[in-house]
Amino acid sequence: MTSPVLLMLNRPSRDAEPHEPGGPSFARLDPSAAQVSVLDLGVTRGDGIFESISVAGGRAQALEPHLARFAVSARMLQLPAPDLDAWREAILAAVALHDDVPEAFIKTVLTRGIEGDGRPTGWLYMEPSSPAFSRARTEGIRVVTLNRGYATTVARDFPWLLQGAKTLSYGLNRAAGREAAARGADDVIFVSTDGYLLEGPTSNVILRTGDRLVTPPTDIGILAGTTQAHIFAYAQGVGMGTAYEMLTPDDLRAADAAWLVSSVRHAAPVSSVDGEDRTMDAGFTAALNEFLLARRD
Ligand SMILES: Cc1ncc(COP(=O)(O)O)c(C=O)c1O
Repeated sequence: MTSPVLLMLNRPSRDAEPHEPGGPSFARLDPSAAQVSVLDLGVTRGDGIFESISVAGGRAQALEPHLARFAVSARMLQLPAPDLDAWREAILAAVALHDDVPEAFIKTVLTRGIEGDGRPTGWLYMEPSSPAFSRARTEGIRVVTLNRGYATTVARDFPWLLQGAKTLSYGLNRAAGREAAARGADDVIFVSTDGYLLEGPTSNVILRTGDRLVTPPTDIGILAGTTQAHIFAYAQGVGMGTAYEMLTPDDLRAADAAWLVSSVRHAAPVSSVDGEDRTMDAGFTAALNEFLLARRD
């Protein structure tokens, strides 16, 4: 039995007072005990940000892209900027402290802290990845398309809706997952009110047509995925084309293959859309996942 690692950061942001002046930069705490105040705005309002980072072969994958996105999310929420050196140090320490397992993940969390206190709260948590994720890579996932209730102009027109930030407010994303389960599916692809594919509740969409991979542009109110970016780099390396394009549900049905891609689960091939079976590309999926698992940075 491996024990999870919980590290609480003493000073998650350079702009804010440390929780323990002069203390170590982080402390290892018992993850089975209560550690966060019931008054923390992350708990009471979902007011904060997070990242989920895969760990494989003893390395945190896409570490710098995750840290960069953590900083972007903080900026979008007007949170004190995370001290990325402190976070990097804590992430590397967690990997060193955790039992050596083939696949694990680290979740980093930064909240606005206790109301009125002015100090953000920061912690990270590491445990082995769910075996269900590796099953999804070979067996595929059944998806339903669900309307997201906004147009692809949302990020430009309504920045206060925080689309494209990785906030703690994932209640809606979880509700979409329950809706998928109620419809006999495993996952969701959100569609905008103007009829375009957006993303999954915790993943990006990639389609393959011929030897070309396409994904929706990242400025239409979706998260810029670290996994999607690495898959595009891989595809370019093996001579495939890649593009960011507006895509529709018809494109999804017509594509030669489709995946939902994300850290930790990696590339999950889509086996059906709204109850209609679609083809999967087992060979390329295996190559993608082999590449993603082998990443060392
Ligand atoms: C809404 C959303 N989109 C996309 C992604 C994929 O991002 P990444 O590949 O960096 O994990 C995630 C991952 O958590 C997500 O929550």
